Amino acid sequence: MNSLCVMFSKAFDIIEAELAGASEYHSLRVASLCSRMGKHLGYDSDSLCALVTCALFHDNALIEYNLNKQTGGYDGIDLKPHCEYGQRNIDWLPFAKSVDGYILHHHSCENGKGPFGAAEFPHEAALISAADIADVTYHLQKISNSEINALKDKIAAKTGTFSTKSAIETLLDIVDAEMLESLRDENIHETVRQAYPAWKAGIEDESVLRLAKFIAYIIDCKSKYTRKHTEQIANRAWLMGEYYGYSGGEKAKLYLAASLHDIGKISTPSAVLEKPGKLDKDEYRTIMDHVRCTYDWLGEVEGLGKIRNWACEHHEKLDGTGYPLNKRDTDLDFNSRLMACIDIYQAVCEERPYHSARSHEETMPILYGMAEKGFIDGKTVKDLDDVMAEYSLRDLDAPELQVMQK
Ligand SMILES: [Fe+2]
Ligand SMILES: [Fe+2]
Ligand SMILES: [Fe+2]
Ligand SMILES: [Fe+2]
Repeated sequence: MNSLCVMFSKAFDIIEAELAGASEYHSLRVASLCSRMGKHLGYDSDSLCALVTCALFHDNALIEYNLNKQTGGYDGIDLKPHCEYGQRNIDWLPFAKSVDGYILHHHSCENGKGPFGAAEFPHEAALISAADIADVTYHLQKISNSEINALKDKIAAKTGTFSTKSAIETLLDIVDAEMLESLRDENIHETVRQAYPAWKAGIEDESVLRLAKFIAYIIDCKSKYTRKHTEQIANRAWLMGEYYGYSGGEKAKLYLAASLHDIGKISTPSAVLEKPGKLDKDEYRTIMDHVRCTYDWLGEVEGLGKIRNWACEHHEKLDGTGYPLNKRDTDLDFNSRLMACIDIYQAVCEERPYHSARSHEETMPILYGMAEKGFIDGKTVKDLDDVMAEYSLRDLDAPELQVMQK
């Protein structure tokens, strides 16, 4: 769980960099600072794990915010929605203790000028806020030893304008040369590794499936055309696993691979993802690059094994004409072939800038045609046809995951 959370937090830095001037590893620094503050305050391991995870994911809804802004949901920078959505999303994760309000109030201020006025909020939200604003404002990874006192004076002088007096005092207590050194780019990964209490879970555990669902939901917020893409692919993968009689663990692995398969699209510019009409060569290369990005990011996650391949081979073709590595039938195992078929099925049946939504009956001939040309596996296409005919275009909820419904 830890390395999956750390890897995914980087996606938010990309968006926060665009919107709020945050720099690379911002979420990791906020999480490390919160861990220090939590330890300083005597938090136990469960409390620390909840605080560090919420700090890593404090801006998990910025992608959704961006999408709603583009689609006319609201104008200008409004802090409230991303706080509300972010809290709703984080509530999917099964923490050992309640994280009520931790993300909802990460822009709240005790002077009442935050997005929710004078509402009361948990101290953990104030800790996240103090770390977040200090890092975005002062770029803590770059502060030299000679600048430490000036930095503390500047933060102290802003007391009363953000977070709470108590959280800012805690932040000032932990700012020293060693702590700032630990935040430098070359040290930050090791710092987070030590700061993050072990959140262990087996592949079949509900916590992994919930984290997968959380990740899928956020990836899908990248574009209005992919609003259900990952979620539906993950659910279809689960159903195909059931059809093939996979064990719970095998289904869970497939579900996780499907949930992660387009994670690299978070780094693809929305203008390219949503361009109506034909893409030029450079734009096509940019789109193709999402797989390389997925591969790199998943390489940072411990213990994925084959899940990484199943996630990253969905654009390869049996005849070697796919991308990014021109793999062919001899390189692609059963689940990789299955993932490719499900990805194409979902992409063909959902609305895109260059085609409208299609029914199951309109979708299948396209897949059979691709199988005939030797691109994808004909037997898998037939299995997909049999299983998906029953569900048509209904939004699916993988049956055993319905327990996760709130
Ligand atoms: Fe925020
Ligand atoms: Fe932030
Ligand atoms: Fe893809
Ligand atoms: Fe996809």
